[in-house]
Amino acid sequence: MPSAQPKWSMFEWIRILGLRGFAKSQRLPLAIPNGADGSGLTILVGANNAGKSTAIEALRALNQADPPSFTQGRRNKYAGDRVKLVLRRADGLEVTLESQQPRTSETKLSPQHTNLSGQLFVLPSRRVFSPYFGRNSFNRATFMASLGFPAVRTSNLDQFSSRLFEIQKNRAAFDAVMADCSMMQRCSSIMNQPLKAASGVSALRP
Ligand SMILES: Nc1ncnc2c1ncn2[C@@H]1O[C@H](COP(=O)(O)OP(=O)(O)O)[C@@H](O)[C@H]1O
Ligand SMILES: [Mg+2]
Repeated sequence: MPSAQPKWSMFEWIRILGLRGFAKSQRLPLAIPNGADGSGLTILVGANNAGKSTAIEALRALNQADPPSFTQGRRNKYAGDRVKLVLRRADGLEVTLESQQPRTSETKLSPQHTNLSGQLFVLPSRRVFSPYFGRNSFNRATFMASLGFPAVRTSNLDQFSSRLFEIQKNRAAFDAVMADCSMMQRCSSIMNQPLKAASGVSALRP
């Protein structure tokens, strides 16, 4: 048993073949934090249909507790009608999720029974979320497990709001995280500047 293995390890890259537009195998390197602000942040930019959402979808596929189906609409014919995803962790672990056979949806994971769902947290790329609050109280892991891997990309970010109830239960911890978040601090300092300017302008009004 690799009991000395750290609980968290960074991911170095993901290689994608045969998922949607990925007709050829392509490797997306992921930023590894080195202590400098922002060093662990990977930002994916590109034209429409370049494959940004597909890269996120690949991470979601690897995030499932049970191997998901790669249905026909997801498979690229020019890649042999099969999908192969490889995710490399900095500790050397390489997880492969691939079609069992060409032209079929069933997949296999190796090493078998690898479960990355506690390590990868992937939000759907769509931005709309349901404004209706369910009484469910989800933590992050339950949320990720319940998202699933639907065959069709949905426009809603369902169950997003459930997590707000967890915030209410532990408001002090939530506020502490917010206070620690340097991005928020920078945003608030940027937002203060126009506020000051605005108050200066209003002072000039009669
Ligand atoms: N089964 C498929 N075979 C080949 N190409 C596909 C398949 N499914 C989707 N695509 C193509 O993959 C691309 C998806 O890009 P997407 O990841 O949504 O890009 P982005 O998020 O960068 O706009 C589109 O060009 C789409 O036509
Ligand atoms: Mg997209």
